[in-house]
Amino acid sequence: IKMFIPRESTALSLGAHDVARAVSDYSTQHKTELNLIRNGSRGMFWLEPMVEVETSKGRFAYGPVDVSDVPSIMEDITTNLLSKHTQEHRLALGLTEELAYLKKQTRLTFARAGITDPLSLNDYLALDGFSGLHKALAATSQEIVSTVVDSGLRGRGGAAFPTGIKWQTVHDAPSDKKYIVCNADEGDSGTFADRLVMECDPFMLIEGMIIAGLAVGADEGYIYLRSEYPVADEILQEAIVIATKEGYLGNDICGSGRTFNLEVRLGAEAYICGEETSLLESMEGKRGVVRFKPPLPAIEGFFGKPTVVNNVLSLSAIPYILSQGGQAYQQYGANRSRGTLPFQLAGNVKQGGLIELPFGSTLQSLLDDFSGGTQSARPIRAIQVGGPLGAYLPTSKFDIPLDYEEFTNASAVLGHGGIVIFDDTVDMLEQARFSMEFCVDESCGKCTPCRIGSTRGVEVIDRIKYDDSRAENMILLSDLCETMINGSLCAMGSMTPIPVISAYKDFPEDFHLPSNNAV
Ligand code: NAI
Ligand code: SF4
Repeated sequence: IKMFIPRESTALSLGAHDVARAVSDYSTQHKTELNLIRNGSRGMFWLEPMVEVETSKGRFAYGPVDVSDVPSIMEDITTNLLSKHTQEHRLALGLTEELAYLKKQTRLTFARAGITDPLSLNDYLALDGFSGLHKALAATSQEIVSTVVDSGLRGRGGAAFPTGIKWQTVHDAPSDKKYIVCNADEGDSGTFADRLVMECDPFMLIEGMIIAGLAVGADEGYIYLRSEYPVADEILQEAIVIATKEGYLGNDICGSGRTFNLEVRLGAEAYICGEETSLLESMEGKRGVVRFKPPLPAIEGFFGKPTVVNNVLSLSAIPYILSQGGQAYQQYGANRSRGTLPFQLAGNVKQGGLIELPFGSTLQSLLDDFSGGTQSARPIRAIQVGGPLGAYLPTSKFDIPLDYEEFTNASAVLGHGGIVIFDDTVDMLEQARFSMEFCVDESCGKCTPCRIGSTRGVEVIDRIKYDDSRAENMILLSDLCETMINGSLCAMGSMTPIPVISAYKDFPEDFHLPSNNAV
């Protein structure tokens, strides 16, 4: 029997190792021949640990599986599924590829996630792996950059700056040394897409980074990985060793005579170290404090050299773009938001997980097609999109297309694609207070509007909650938000007001304001 049990963090935290052990023990006791693959996750977290079995019709899934379910599942597999093509188990889900949650997605970046053994180079090669690299090795550096420009790919970390233009800047910068830095300090609330890439398909990220090196003339890369991701660290380290041994990394990539070396650096456990200049400071061994821009990292980055700093998802989109061509990627999407975005459904939701879709659908259709409602079975009242610096959207805004510009026009952000759901018990004044408090905790301290402003913000919101002088304090809060937006050096301080303003504008009743409040 060929079976698959994930070794990805969510599945592991829900007991995947124990389930795998129980399956092995059962097979030994019953003298069943077992080929157990530890795959990545398909990203359907409410079904984890999800156990799959290979059948003549495709892979068949059971989930969520507990150790106590293993004997009955193994019996179902041997007596029903594999011999009679029927199944009677209460946890039987059907053929994995037919599950609606997966079928409704357009998986370009996550095409292999959960299907392959993340550390099997053969699995990777069998599903188009390293074909982008071979195309890149046959192209000039300018041709690679132009392909990425043509694809319309924009930075998936959240800022949505065109990746090809960033690469062009580094490509054109004269220097004896350049670097590729992957920002894997995924800090936004409710996000896990970077982690899933690294745990489920690490060779894809490695391939994207090698291609970036070939494009701009860099021979050294670093993955700045948040230290809260130990499984990703372990898998990446192993994948780098394998890729080096097999000649994809090192001094003679695929016999081309070209060089690219790669290392993982563990992050400093601070949200602000995900900001690119603070990340570079941290990588240089210093405290993670934000640098002034200009100079941009593309001109003066790691140790003052031209550096590409790209998010995991941006670099992971590159192998597909090189292998299939810029136009193939750019045919997906809406307006200036091209390609797909891996959305991450989290918070108070029944069916949380990873949903890769082309830009342009709406939050409402995403909820209808994937969420299954709230975990509490109560109505949804608010959704925060784009991490802790993103707006809280009321139900009346669920029809805004999921597109960078459409979100900006609605004073919201799509960011890194995190979607956190709240039911009708949420107190939006408390959420606004939380946003300010988050900034107090995570500010690097370099500039006053952010460092001091956030502390004053918490105090003002407390006065709105407890004092009689509500109207004056609302004006003060609005002024404070304006000062933080205009006077902060980086997104931490300038975007913290976004969730705060959305909370009092779209949920005025929680601030004890009339619904037509003028603030
Ligand atoms: P930014 O708009 O200042 O820069 C975006 C990127 O484009 C940077 O890498 C910058 O160096 C580059 N760039 C700008 N002009 C360029 C040029 N002419 N040539 C070459 N490169 C150029 O935004 P920033 O501060 O880097 O990021 C803010 C965003 O980060 C927010 O929108 C937020 O959504 C996101 N964010 C993401 C988090 C996560 O966990 N993924 C956490 C916190 C924030
Ligand atoms: Fe640091 Fe905040 Fe200023 Fe950003 S806005 S540089 S985090 S103090």
